[in-house]
Amino acid sequence: MAATKSVIPHVLIFPIPAQGHINSMLKLAELLCLSGINVTFVNTQQNHSRLLRNADVQSRFGQFPGFCFETISDGISASFSNPEDFITDLFDRLKNVIKPGFRELLTSNRLKSDARGPVSCIIADGVLGFPIDVAEELGIPCISFRTISACCVWIFFCSQRLVENGDIPFKDEDMDRLIKSVPEMESFLRCRDLPSFYRAKEVNTPNLDFVNTGTLYSVRAAAHLLNTFDDIEAPILSQLRSHCPNLYTIGPLNALLNNLRSSTTTSLPISSNASLYAEDRSCMTWLDRQPEKSVVYVSFGSIAMVSRQEWLEIWYGLVNSGYRFLWVKRPDSLISKDDEGSQIQAELVEATKERGYTVDWAPQEEVLNHPAIGGFFTHSGWNSTLESMVAGVPMVCWPHLADQQINSRYVSEVWKIGMDMKDHCNRVTVENLIRDMMSGKREELMQSTAKVAEMARKSVSRDGSSYRNYEALLEFIRKSR
Ligand code: UDX
Repeated sequence: MAATKSVIPHVLIFPIPAQGHINSMLKLAELLCLSGINVTFVNTQQNHSRLLRNADVQSRFGQFPGFCFETISDGISASFSNPEDFITDLFDRLKNVIKPGFRELLTSNRLKSDARGPVSCIIADGVLGFPIDVAEELGIPCISFRTISACCVWIFFCSQRLVENGDIPFKDEDMDRLIKSVPEMESFLRCRDLPSFYRAKEVNTPNLDFVNTGTLYSVRAAAHLLNTFDDIEAPILSQLRSHCPNLYTIGPLNALLNNLRSSTTTSLPISSNASLYAEDRSCMTWLDRQPEKSVVYVSFGSIAMVSRQEWLEIWYGLVNSGYRFLWVKRPDSLISKDDEGSQIQAELVEATKERGYTVDWAPQEEVLNHPAIGGFFTHSGWNSTLESMVAGVPMVCWPHLADQQINSRYVSEVWKIGMDMKDHCNRVTVENLIRDMMSGKREELMQSTAKVAEMARKSVSRDGSSYRNYEALLEFIRKSR
């Protein structure tokens, strides 16, 4: 029986199975639900069971009868000794397990018999090319969602032109050519600021092909979404729009979601996290006991890993800075796991537990908006960078991989809302930068930080660029049913 057209559009949202991608795309899912759209969110089985242990996710989506999760197999992922292996394994599983699983889901009866009617639009992670193929085969419009900054998408896009000339793997002279091919960034971008995928010593061709394939395919998407806002990336966005005219900036999503929630529900906004790890909320009680703007929040996201020596350098730098700190030590984030090292780490943490509080995983958005937080020592993941911008918290940046190097350079050189430590992880540098952030350079940092926070607030307000783009996205979705 032919599927009947549903009065309510039914959108399927498909992120790659990584925390930073799930967070932003689940925020989009909630936004669409608040706007009366039916949503199916595709998780991998492993992440789905982790996500459902998060009570906030249950309460966030339990209120929407038009929302449901679907799961596909994700293959067995081992534990990893470094983030590069995690990414290589992830891309392998995406190609060999998740891709066929996605196709099977879209062509199976699981969705066809759905009471909410057939899927009328797909919003897929912009890293991936294959969802666009499947959508084209099924005659469903597919929107590409990039969870990174526009400046990083543009670098991927420009490097693709070099890749098409067979310049892989990149050597140093190619890095210079890549930077020269991006005149908007040439004045401040250096080889070490480029995505880790491209720097000669780390080039991993399979990853590179995968990244470029996704970028190449996204030009073929029916529309493009970016979790950013026009005011902070205007020059790059105009370049991107010359190639992808129907590109909608709808970020910062955390701010747009809170804005829409406050105008549609009477209850206080609950956390918009989607943590795959169990959050330790004891840090909020600890923060309540700290003086205003006295604490440095330290977190390196869900993929970056730290060696024992790096951990010690950061710990001594924080302690010697004299400031209080709240440090997220994600359970799988330490590269070396020798018992003796763990013992030393435990003793050091115990020795300063009054001034330095550690948790395995924190409710980050709530932490960044707590009055006791004065600064953020971050890895410059894009979600963390946006969350810090919205909260008006200055940053010290220690990037690790992928888009983080470009984000940290923009934070320090273009937006001037923080300082880029880049690859100088030693206790003296950490101490000096923390002191600059919390006092020495605080006045100038806070001026820029307040300005950017105000631009973000305006972009998601009723007449703001991101709000208008979100309304254009809703119109596109309603027309596609
Ligand atoms: C990765 C890339 O680094 C990032 O640039 C890309 O956009 C997505 O994939 P990740 O390294 O996890 O993401 O960093 P980030 O983008 O900052 O996402 C981490 C998310 O986890 C943030 O939304 C943050 O709020 C959340 N988080 C982090 C917590 O909820 N608790 C924590 O303790 C730490």
